[in-house]
Amino acid sequence: MEIIHVSAECYPVAKAGGLGDVVGALPKYQCKAGHIAKVVMPMYRTRFLYDSEWTVDFKGSANLGSWFFDYTIIKEPTNKLGFDLFLVDINGLLDRQKIYGYDDDTERFTAFQIAVVSWISSWEHRPDVVHCHDHHAGLIPFMMQYCYDFSSLANVPSILTIHNAQYQGWMGWDKSRYIPRWDLWKRGMLDWAENINPLASGVKCAARVTTVSNSYMNELSVSSNGLEKLFQMERGKCVGILNGIDNEVWDPATDKYLPHHFSTKNVTKGKQKNKEELCKQFGLDATKPLFVFIGRLVGEKAADILPEAIRSAIHHTQAQACFLVLGSGETQVEWQFQQMVEPYKGIFNCSIGYDETLSHKMYAGADFLLMPSRVEPCGLNQMYAMRYGTVPVVRSTGGLQDTVTDMGDTDGFGIRFNNATVSDVEYSIGRAVTVFKDAAQMEKMRRHMMQIDHSWESTVNEYLGVYESAMG
Ligand code: ADP
Ligand code: GLC
Repeated sequence: MEIIHVSAECYPVAKAGGLGDVVGALPKYQCKAGHIAKVVMPMYRTRFLYDSEWTVDFKGSANLGSWFFDYTIIKEPTNKLGFDLFLVDINGLLDRQKIYGYDDDTERFTAFQIAVVSWISSWEHRPDVVHCHDHHAGLIPFMMQYCYDFSSLANVPSILTIHNAQYQGWMGWDKSRYIPRWDLWKRGMLDWAENINPLASGVKCAARVTTVSNSYMNELSVSSNGLEKLFQMERGKCVGILNGIDNEVWDPATDKYLPHHFSTKNVTKGKQKNKEELCKQFGLDATKPLFVFIGRLVGEKAADILPEAIRSAIHHTQAQACFLVLGSGETQVEWQFQQMVEPYKGIFNCSIGYDETLSHKMYAGADFLLMPSRVEPCGLNQMYAMRYGTVPVVRSTGGLQDTVTDMGDTDGFGIRFNNATVSDVEYSIGRAVTVFKDAAQMEKMRRHMMQIDHSWESTVNEYLGVYESAMG
């Protein structure tokens, strides 16, 4: 089967979060299973080197309203990622330092989608499915079916995977001029609440819709930033498929970022060595349990309650634990964490920014990972943590609920709580500090977690089932 993934992110070329990880891994495992999976994404000016080896695959031109633009499709020639990767270069529009966050993101990602569909429609053959990820690719199912210029793709099934329904890419109807000549009778397929809503349009037009965990699938009909009714109506074509993790990248026995490798056999010693280096780097006490938070410092992740929850836990446990935070996001939250470094020297530290290497060291060196998320469609952090023998302390929501069992339950290995509140987080930290004193129990939980299979190998078939049903 030939599968074309369309995404704004793909690890290691450009990653802002879990979307990049998923699109950098799923196609690789689809190829390993004998399929042809390709990824097409924007060409940004990111840290990844676009060296001279990259080859030009196609040159085309298209229109974004009255703006005529040229685009180039560039191919990664070595297949070192395990799948074919294509970058869409649109001068001046996509080649920016950051992936998102510009005033003209609407224009950037609409032009990207137009270029992708126009490129695929120029092929002599048709792919079996086009797999779109999130709202940055959400208009593609509409374009393939209802834009006259792309009518050759009308019978190719499209799949939409929702990684996060909070972000929908709304634009006013004045922007409808951007969409290449389309069947005006199909206005309803673009509209949601009097706006063009790319995510909603993708849900309406795609042959099948998936999201990244079963629990999140159920949550979408109850709470999805205004799309609840849509998910209730379209429930029949929606399915939850839990993300996997790339066990080749995330393996504590071989991880290139770790100073000390370890496996289930020497997990306690191995983690302790990593912890000591990490604690030394951040001036923390390696004899105490180490809690880490890694992620976007935003409301969805409940990062706003963490400063107070950590301060409160430090006071109530008489500083029996240490905390290390890695992330960036809301300025106010970043500032609060920075203000805590001096007064809590030796107990708390943070690194504000994005640091892939440090994140790996933290998964390996930490004892506990905090994830109080208000919304967590899947969450990869807790799965990485488990693979590195780090106990997840999570709020029971979305994918966290589907992957973490509380240590109070049979075969449980994590800590779960119900509310994204200071008191629930603080109480859970207290439980963690208590269990940390029981070395045998910690070792048992670590070994158990590390053996849980979250590999993509076991998930790839679920996507194939969805593709096959879409192909009818
Ligand atoms: P989301 O996609 O909602 O941010 P996920 O849990 O699915 O959450 O994935 C987050 C991914 O991004 C993980 O690979 C995590 O390690 C990584 N990550 C998040 N913030 C940072 C950061 N500041 N530095 C390094 N890696 C980060
Ligand atoms: C989103 C979600 C996260 C999920 C990731 C990959 O960013 O917020 O929960 O793990 O996508 O699917």
